[in-house]
Amino acid sequence: MDLVTLKVPAKITLFGEHTVVYGTPAIASTIPIHITIAGRMADDDFIKLEIKQGLQFKINTITVYKDEIKGEIDQENAKRFTGYAVTAINLCEKFLGISEKSRGYIITIDSPLPVGVGLGTSAAISVGITTLCLTLNNYIKMDELENYRQEIAKLAWSVEKLVQGSASPMDTYTISLGGLRYIIPSIPISYPVDLSYELPIIIGYTHREGTTAELIRRVRRVRELHEEIFSEILRTVSLVVDKARKALLDNDLETLGTLMNINHGMLQALGIVDMKHAMLAHILKVAGALGVKTSGAGGGGAFIALAPSKTIQEKLISIAEALGATIVSKSLCKDGVRFVH
Ligand code: MEV
Repeated sequence: MDLVTLKVPAKITLFGEHTVVYGTPAIASTIPIHITIAGRMADDDFIKLEIKQGLQFKINTITVYKDEIKGEIDQENAKRFTGYAVTAINLCEKFLGISEKSRGYIITIDSPLPVGVGLGTSAAISVGITTLCLTLNNYIKMDELENYRQEIAKLAWSVEKLVQGSASPMDTYTISLGGLRYIIPSIPISYPVDLSYELPIIIGYTHREGTTAELIRRVRRVRELHEEIFSEILRTVSLVVDKARKALLDNDLETLGTLMNINHGMLQALGIVDMKHAMLAHILKVAGALGVKTSGAGGGGAFIALAPSKTIQEKLISIAEALGATIVSKSLCKDGVRFVH
């Protein structure tokens, strides 16, 4: 098969991160920022990865042979991309019953976002490389991608669990299936939440300390020390998520904002909101935001704010940028992983 090129969207969690790891529902959506992944089979049995990240990062070319990384990886970020990509290839080959020896691949990953800011870049790599590997090995038919989305999501979820030690299906199901989704992790299943209007949101990120795995461990420690309180937090967030789904469908921005603030408070209680986000949330609310919350794994990283109008939305962007945040989107999107023809 010739070169296969994919666009994989990043994602934002609107409600229920972390608690989703313990089985409560969550709401997440893809956003209109894409990682481009292109790949073909190689003549040898090496995996060659070329990783380009935005303008701030050097290009890394890495060669992997049976889990052994041969090239120099200059950046911590590139190293993280490699872990997800190689695990995805190994897992797909196992799924396809390719056991005799690894096959060779030449893959380029072009990401406008650094990995690990809470916008689902690791899940995007897992979903993208899973789709690529299954396509290059003739399992996925390119004109029938819709039929494979659940399977891709499930396999990519296993990649996340293997690399991180613990992960919910939220990120990979959202990125594989696309759009705004209500996720029930215990099944797992995800339902589209179809909006007939555009949410006046801003999505951005600040510097993040710690990996997703470390932040998940931090939350687990709270659970170990305060089991009863932790169950109450799970119960509260569950309620928040269900009410948020209704508020989203009813275009009830006031309620939605309040629910975002409550969820942010719960994340603060779980210990994953850093000082910068606490300050950002406070200042953006004073400036007119209806709701502001940390999004994703936390420790800084991604956040989402809801404005009552387009004018306030622009004002919030200027303030957040002045406070050192990078704004990446003012909207959600509908697509999941897709081929570029
Ligand atoms: C990471 O994007 C979101 C977390 O809830 C972890 C997960 O759901 O796997 C922190």
